[in-house]
Amino acid sequence: SAEVRVGLLGLGTVGTGVVSIISRHQEELRHQVGCPVTIKKVLVRDKAKPRPVDVDETMVTEHIDEILTDEHIDIVIEVMGGVESTKEHLLKALRNGKHVVTANKDLMALHGAELLRVASENGCDLYYEASVAGGIPILRSLVDGLAADRITKMMGIVNGTTNYILTKMTQEGSSYEEVLKQAQLLGFAESDPTADVEGLDAARKMAILATLGFSMNVSLDDVVVRGISSVTKSDLDYCDQLGYTMKLIGLAKRDDGRVEVSVEPTLLPKEHPLASVHNEYNAVYVYGEAVGETMFYGPGAGSLPTATAVVSDLVSVMKNMRLGVSGRIVQGPLHERILKRDNE
Ligand code: NDP
Ligand code: HSE
Repeated sequence: SAEVRVGLLGLGTVGTGVVSIISRHQEELRHQVGCPVTIKKVLVRDKAKPRPVDVDETMVTEHIDEILTDEHIDIVIEVMGGVESTKEHLLKALRNGKHVVTANKDLMALHGAELLRVASENGCDLYYEASVAGGIPILRSLVDGLAADRITKMMGIVNGTTNYILTKMTQEGSSYEEVLKQAQLLGFAESDPTADVEGLDAARKMAILATLGFSMNVSLDDVVVRGISSVTKSDLDYCDQLGYTMKLIGLAKRDDGRVEVSVEPTLLPKEHPLASVHNEYNAVYVYGEAVGETMFYGPGAGSLPTATAVVSDLVSVMKNMRLGVSGRIVQGPLHERILKRDNE
């Protein structure tokens, strides 16, 4: 085809960022993939809602099947959230031969293996860079950049909302409720922020990181989780007086085949580099036997940073389409199994 045609599921914080980047960076995208990228249809829950980006209203639909079954759509971008029903929708898209890009860590942490298998069986790509640490390209760094190494440990801040809350409570003395509300208004929090504040969102991301970093299926049940909902201003003041900063830290390590993954509020000495990661920013240390210590830092949530990861995945999918290798480059523990099947 003379253009790549996209169906966008969701036009909220991340979806509007995707529309904006595709429209603003059309030249860069065309340069990389050799043809224009066009958004053909956009799914929303409520068509009447005002939108901060300019989208032709004839493209907007409230009926998902108009996208999943449209033979003129090559790639589906899922930025609407949800788990069980969204899984069924994406399975349908893949079985209809559409490549999928998603930012949905809830879905990938629970059903990533099944979705990747179905994608591969149907010769389709499934990319999910935005699901962990927003704008930081951490998944491709694990899968490609550090492919030669044996990763032993990953540690860092992988939830923007809780880091924003802890930063503002510590630095500005704001109340927990007040800053949570700000994080929601800024679009950092999940639609139900319980997942953020109770550490579940970070746990999902750590499960995905451990799965990719250690090349084994690490499930959410394997992650020990504690959130920050019971942290008070006086706890933070007390930490400060003692020379510490509290952060919600995700940790994944392996030793002799044993894997431990946790998410917990942790006291860091103020001079620790993770102590100066503020607001919605994330940072992840990755330790490899050969490389030693590496650190990845950047915006972990928000419209344009997250959309950058989504649209970069779109570019990867388009490059695979051009090379005729769609469905064969799998980011996940299914990799080996799929390569084996290809060789049979
Ligand atoms: P929002 O709530 O801002 O947007 C969701 C969008 O999807 C809205 O446009 C909504 O429609 C639409 N939508 C939701 N459910 C349905 C449905 N059942 N049928 C039709 N349309 C639906 O979410 P975000 O953009 O913040 O997040 C989207 C995804 O990206 C989530 O999986 C989230 O975890 C992930 N993510 C978010 C990040 C962030 O910083 N916000 C960062 C990284 C990942 P309407 O507008 O009409 O209500
Ligand atoms: N709610 C998530 C966060 C969005 O605050 O980190 C990015 O995944």
